[in-house]
Amino acid sequence: MNRNLMDSFGRRIDYLRLSVTDRCDLRCTYCIPRGFKGFAEPENRLTFDEIERLVRIFAGLGVNKVRLTGGEPLLRRGLPQLAARLSTIDGVTDLSLSTNGTQLARHAASLRNAGVARINVSLDSLNRSRFQRIAGRDALPRILEGLKEAKAACFELVKINMVAMRGVNDDEIEHMAMFCVKHGFTLRLIEAMPVGDTGRSVKYLDLQPVRRGLQARFDLIDGVMPGGGPARYLQTADGQFKVGFITPISQHFCATCNRVRLAVDGTLHLCLGQEHQYPLQPLLRGGATDAELVQAIQTAIAAKPERHDFRNHPQKIVRFMASLGG
Ligand code: GTP
Ligand code: 5AD
Ligand code: SF4
Repeated sequence: MNRNLMDSFGRRIDYLRLSVTDRCDLRCTYCIPRGFKGFAEPENRLTFDEIERLVRIFAGLGVNKVRLTGGEPLLRRGLPQLAARLSTIDGVTDLSLSTNGTQLARHAASLRNAGVARINVSLDSLNRSRFQRIAGRDALPRILEGLKEAKAACFELVKINMVAMRGVNDDEIEHMAMFCVKHGFTLRLIEAMPVGDTGRSVKYLDLQPVRRGLQARFDLIDGVMPGGGPARYLQTADGQFKVGFITPISQHFCATCNRVRLAVDGTLHLCLGQEHQYPLQPLLRGGATDAELVQAIQTAIAAKPERHDFRNHPQKIVRFMASLGG
C-alpha cells in the first residue's frame, strides 16, 4: 500500500505546520485584531501527547517536515520539550519554528538542543517606534536580543520574515537586506494576505517590482533553500545575500503546495486561503485507533482545494492569521 499522502491534484503532502497556540504577545496590524477575545479555550488545546501521536502518524504517511507555529509558539509552556519529542520521531527529518522572537533570547539554546534546525523570525522594521506602531508593542530590543542568541545557538538557517507594506515599511527593505547580510540571515519579503479583517486592512505591496529592483541593484541570480516552502529565492553569486519572495497575491504558488496545517484545537486545515477543514480532536479524544486516524487524514487530504482565492474573493477568510500560524 502507498503510505504517502497525495491530494486529488497529484500534490504530495510532506509538510505539516503545527500551531501550538493561537495566542500572541504582539498585535501586528495585519494579524490579530486589537482587543480580540476569542482565543481557543485551554481544554480545547491538543496536549503534547496528542500532538506527538498525530505527528507520529503523519510521519508514517511520509510527512518529513514539521514547522511549529502559533500565534507565538514560544508562549506555549514547555515548547522546547515538545520539540525534543517531535525531533526524535522516525521520519521527521526537518523540524523548524516560526516565531516573533520576543521570547527567543531565553529559548534559543534549548530549542537548538531539542533538534530545531531552522527558525524564521518575523521582523517588519528595525526602527523602534515604527516597529511599535506595526506590532502594537515596544518589543524591538527584545527581538534583537533574541536574534543575537539565535546566532550564538548556531541554527542551520535563520530567516527574517518581513511583511512588506506600502507606505509603512517599504522604504526599509534595503536597510533590512544590509542587516541580514551583516548577520548571515536570509531575508524574506512577504505580500500581506487578506486573512481576516486585519489582513484585509493592510496596504498590499506588489513584490514583483521590488524583486526586479533588488535583482538589478545587487546583481542577483536564482537561489534555492531547503524547506520546499512558498518562497522563491534570489542571491548574490557569493551567497552573502539571499532573499526570498513570498507572493501569494501577485504570483500564487499553489500548484506546488506541499502542506497542511493543524490548528491548536486539532482541526486539520487544508489551505490557508480556504475553509476546507477536518476536525481530528473528536477522534483523538473519542478513542480512535491509529488506523482510523490515518483514514481520517487521508480523507481530509483528498479534499484539499486546488488553490486559494485571495484575488477574487478577499472577503472569504474571516479567521485571523494567528489562529493558524500563517
Ligand atoms: P520554510 O520555507 O520552511 O522556511 O517556511 P515557510 O516560509 O513556509 O514558513 P513561515 O512560517 O516563515 O511563513 C512565511 C510566510 O509564508 C507567512 O506569511 C505564511 O503565511 C506564508 N505561507 C506559508 N505557507 C503558505 C501557503 O501554503 N500558502 C500561502 N498563501 N502562504 C503561505
Ligand atoms: N499576510 C502575510 N503574512 C502574514 N503573517 C501574519 N499575518 C500575515 C498576513 N496577513 C506572517 C507573519 C509571520 C508569518 C508566520 O506569517 O509576519 O512572519
Ligand atoms: Fe503575533 Fe505573528 Fe500575528 Fe504578529 S503576525 S500578531 S507576531 S502571530
